[in-house]
Amino acid sequence: MTHEQGIPLAKLIDEARGLLGGDADAMVDIRSLVTQLAGLDRARQLMEPERLLPSAMAERLRSAFERRAAGEPVAYITGFKPFWRHEFQVTPATLIPRPETEHLLEWALEKIPLEQAVTVADLGTGSGVLAISLAFERPQAQVFGCDLSFEALQVARQNERRLCYQSTLPIGWLQGSWCGMFKQESLDVIVSNPPYIRLDDPHLNVGDLRFEPQTALVAQDEGMADYRQIIAQATTRLKPGGWILFEHGYDQAKAVAECLIQHGFASISHRTDLAGQERNTAAQRR
Ligand SMILES: C[S@@+](CC[C@H](N)C(=O)[O-])C[C@H]1O[C@@H](n2cnc3c(N)ncnc32)[C@H](O)[C@@H]1O
Repeated sequence: MTHEQGIPLAKLIDEARGLLGGDADAMVDIRSLVTQLAGLDRARQLMEPERLLPSAMAERLRSAFERRAAGEPVAYITGFKPFWRHEFQVTPATLIPRPETEHLLEWALEKIPLEQAVTVADLGTGSGVLAISLAFERPQAQVFGCDLSFEALQVARQNERRLCYQSTLPIGWLQGSWCGMFKQESLDVIVSNPPYIRLDDPHLNVGDLRFEPQTALVAQDEGMADYRQIIAQATTRLKPGGWILFEHGYDQAKAVAECLIQHGFASISHRTDLAGQERNTAAQRR
């Protein structure tokens, strides 16, 4: 096999196994990198192992396998992560969206009537996954995506442009802290997946979290500081009867609920994730 003819896919996969190991998780990553970087879906990878890849593509894949072996998340290597109905661009300035955040989106959609022109804020929008998915699903809604990070908002804007959203109203992208930019009683619904990991949580030194922005992950006050700020501000920014919906850590449902009660919220309820842990809380302003 000469270099000019290309490198067989099977040889590259063997090299990747040598770097990453051959366990199930490593194989998912290897297949996923080949799918996204070489444009070969899993079925074609399995059916055409002797397929020759041009040497430039082979080098690109080798570099991707090396980055993955050094611990870098697949999503930062490919630059994309699927969420709900779309592929979203992600960069080291944004959190990599997690599948469980789709539960928060589903719950928010239940609170937002399809035909009503409600105003919705996604606080801590990151790559814009919640704001953009909400705008797609509820084209009559005026959606705002807010973040403290200018770099994250740039990624969110690019995602909106690339995905060519079909909502009637453009998404409003706002830089600032939590609800600070909104007028009194201007919002019908707030959704937020704020930073909630404790400063001393050892998980911060393991896996993908090592590569994600600390400002998207970590919160003071046992991980509760941002919930406390958002809830205090939401008491005046939400309209009476408006809803606030959070994602939070598996052990924070009680503390979030207590804070909501202290600030006079009603109809507080929780939802569990697939592992049975309470990961979402919703409440209504009286
Ligand atoms: C856990 S990430 C959530 C990103 C995205 N919503 C998602 O679910 O994938 C939290 C986001 O909150 C933003 N953030 C942190 N502090 C903030 C603040 N004071 N005001 C607004 N956004 C903030 C971070 O920049 C980050 O994008």
